[in-house]
This record gives sequence, structure tokens and C-alpha cells, in this order.
Amino acid sequence: MAKPIRILGIAGSLRRESYNRSALRAATQLAPENTILETFELDGIPIFNQDEEQTPPAIVAEFKRHIREADALLIVTPEYNYSVPGVLKNAIDWASRPYGDSAWQGKPAAIMGASMGTIGTARAQYHLRQIFVFLNMFPINQPEVMIGNAAEQF
Ligand code: FNR
Repeated sequence: MAKPIRILGIAGSLRRESYNRSALRAATQLAPENTILETFELDGIPIFNQDEEQTPPAIVAEFKRHIREADALLIVTPEYNYSVPGVLKNAIDWASRPYGDSAWQGKPAAIMGASMGTIGTARAQYHLRQIFVFLNMFPINQPEVMIGNAAEQF
């Protein structure tokens, strides 16, 4: 059998009952054969400070190692005020630094999201795609997975 594809799943919420964490959990159960979908929880990643980017906290080094070991990413983002939550952006920023040592470089990434609104994180997802341009990541165009009215879906 071919070497399994390793996907790292990241949910951009710290909420215990998070719909986005739930969606990621469901994805791990539905992952196709010959695919390993692991998750990395963003709890405990401190607020980014550029003074510390040369000697990042151990959890950030660990996060970057997981990203680098993955063939692809699955990012599951909530929508906060029409954009990605600070928790997710903060984690993205840490793993993109220092300049020239980004863990995101060249990674393909699928996007999903669940929100209370009817259009299921569409605006946040398009902001995330914009961020991917600078990170030189390759977003999967389709399917677009936008889970609206999340409270009724989980
Ligand atoms: C929200 N929520 C929200 N929903 C939405 O559809 N569009 C939005 O712009 C926002 N903005 C927003 C800002 C802030 C600060 C919060 C806390 C919430 C509601 C959001 O969809 C809801 O809280 C989800 O439950 C968040 O995802 P998790 O934590 O359940 O994964």
C-alpha cells in the first residue's frame, strides 16, 4: 500500500463545546483510507511577540514541527467579526516566523468552518485564503465546506 497521506487538522477555537472542534473531530472519523488526520490543539499558544520569534516557546516549536511533518493541512475556522479569530491568526503568525523559516511554506490546505450565521464562515474563509497568498500555501478550491446555523447541526 502507498505511504499514507498525513494531514494536520487545526481548529481555530479554544471553546470546549466548539462547533469547529466538533467538525474537525467528525472529519477525523470520516478520513478516507490511507490517510492519517491528526489534530493540533491551539490551547496554550501565547500571544505573538516578535521579540521572541528567534527563540519561540516550546509549544510553538512543537506546532511548527507538526506542520512540517504533515503533507497537507485541514484548517477549521470559526468566523469572528467577519474574519478569522485572533486565536487562529496568532497561531498562523507564530508558525510563519522568523522570516524565511515559515512552517507553512508550500503546504496544500483544505478549509472548513462552522458558524452561528447562515453563510457558515464564508467571509472568514476568504480572509484565510488571502492570508495563504503571503504564506505561499495552496488552498483547495473545492469543496467549500461552510456549515451555517451550527447550533442546529451539532
Ligand atoms: C462571533 N460569531 C459570529 N458568527 C458569524 O457567523 N459571523 C461573525 O462575524 C461572528 N462574529 C463573532 C465574533 C465573536 C467575537 C464571537 C465570540 C462570535 C458567532 C460564532 O459563529 C459562534 O460563537 C461560534 O460558536 C464560534 O465557533 P466555535 O467556538 O463554536 O467553534
